[in-house]
Amino acid sequence: MSFESAQTDSAPLEAILLVGGKGTRLRPLTIGVPKPLLPTAGVPFLAHQLAKAAAAGVTRIVLATSYRAEMFEQVLGDGSEFGLELTYVQETDPLGTGGGIRNAAAHLRSGPDDPVVVLNGDVLSGHDITAQVELHRKADAAVTLHLVQVPDPARFGCVPTDLAGRVTDFLEKAPEPVTNQINAGCYVFTRKFIDAMPAGVVLSVELETFPGLIAAGETVMGYVESAYWLDVGTPEAFVRGSCDLVLGELGSTALPGQPGDALLLPGASVHSSAVLSGGTTVGAGSSLAAGVTATGSVVFDDVQIGAGASIHASVIGAGARIGPGAVLDGVIIGTGAEIGSGNELRHGARIWPGVRLDGTAIRFSTDA
Ligand code: GTP
Repeated sequence: MSFESAQTDSAPLEAILLVGGKGTRLRPLTIGVPKPLLPTAGVPFLAHQLAKAAAAGVTRIVLATSYRAEMFEQVLGDGSEFGLELTYVQETDPLGTGGGIRNAAAHLRSGPDDPVVVLNGDVLSGHDITAQVELHRKADAAVTLHLVQVPDPARFGCVPTDLAGRVTDFLEKAPEPVTNQINAGCYVFTRKFIDAMPAGVVLSVELETFPGLIAAGETVMGYVESAYWLDVGTPEAFVRGSCDLVLGELGSTALPGQPGDALLLPGASVHSSAVLSGGTTVGAGSSLAAGVTATGSVVFDDVQIGAGASIHASVIGAGARIGPGAVLDGVIIGTGAEIGSGNELRHGARIWPGVRLDGTAIRFSTDA
């Protein structure tokens, strides 16, 4: 992979990438690997975000790490592969989204009036970061938030704006939404407003910083663009995001191949009678025997799937063994787990790493 930064006339643009969360909703996948590094359409999730940031003219990114901090540099290196300079900062105890931003800011080179992009490390977005930064500059704002319109805003931070596009309130997970605009997890801060945040304490931008800036009368702008957007924090969304990247629903220059029905990584072996569709990825060294069907799923590296097994909307962790005829639908199989032949696991089942389900076939389903 090789990525080039976009050429821009303005000063080098820096970003902070928030990647310190524990990713509890994606357990057991996140027991050994932090969510932003999970294989997604064939590459670590962050590769897609880094490629996009570089294309938008970002030249340097400070990664705010905490959970499994040491793994980020091992996987992403100095960032030159992406046309970026990457710096890693570790919070010994997680400082929350605001504390993480404040802590990372000590490693920025931008001046007090420069814009700094802040990205949540678990969002896939097709929005135009350059246009968001332009709006921020034009409005001379303290912060400019990317907002998307969704049909079910109650699950998210609900963010109303006035006719001028100025954010009037920030209602994190409001029970009765007043707008369908939600916080999409990409912010542009004017640097001095990050430096003004309290240092060394746990802080939430969603619960404290944004509401505080609005209450203080600072200019907080909403950049509304409903391009492709997905928070991959849940198992269903993680699978959806990976498949959408493979299918080309969201373009990514980090995709290792051309968009299509399925992505096979080098060293994957798939029997000619197996059927792959829906943006399924098959990882390196994995093998799918005769008659396997895999739709809309993510198969990590070194997995073996026996003849006639059926896999749908599921994630199969690295090194797992799936027996012949097994049926997996909407499930997560942890690293190295073994699912014996004929087992049937459905919606919501999560099998922890190393667990063996064999002998008499079991059926597990959360369906009524
Ligand atoms: P869940 O535990 O499943 O909710 O996931 P999460 O831990 O990633 O939390 P959430 O999805 O709310 O986090 C949004 C973004 O902020 C993610 O990119 C996280 O990595 C990041 N994040 C959350 N908490 C912290 C923190 O304390 N420090 C840093 N540096 N980043 C954080």
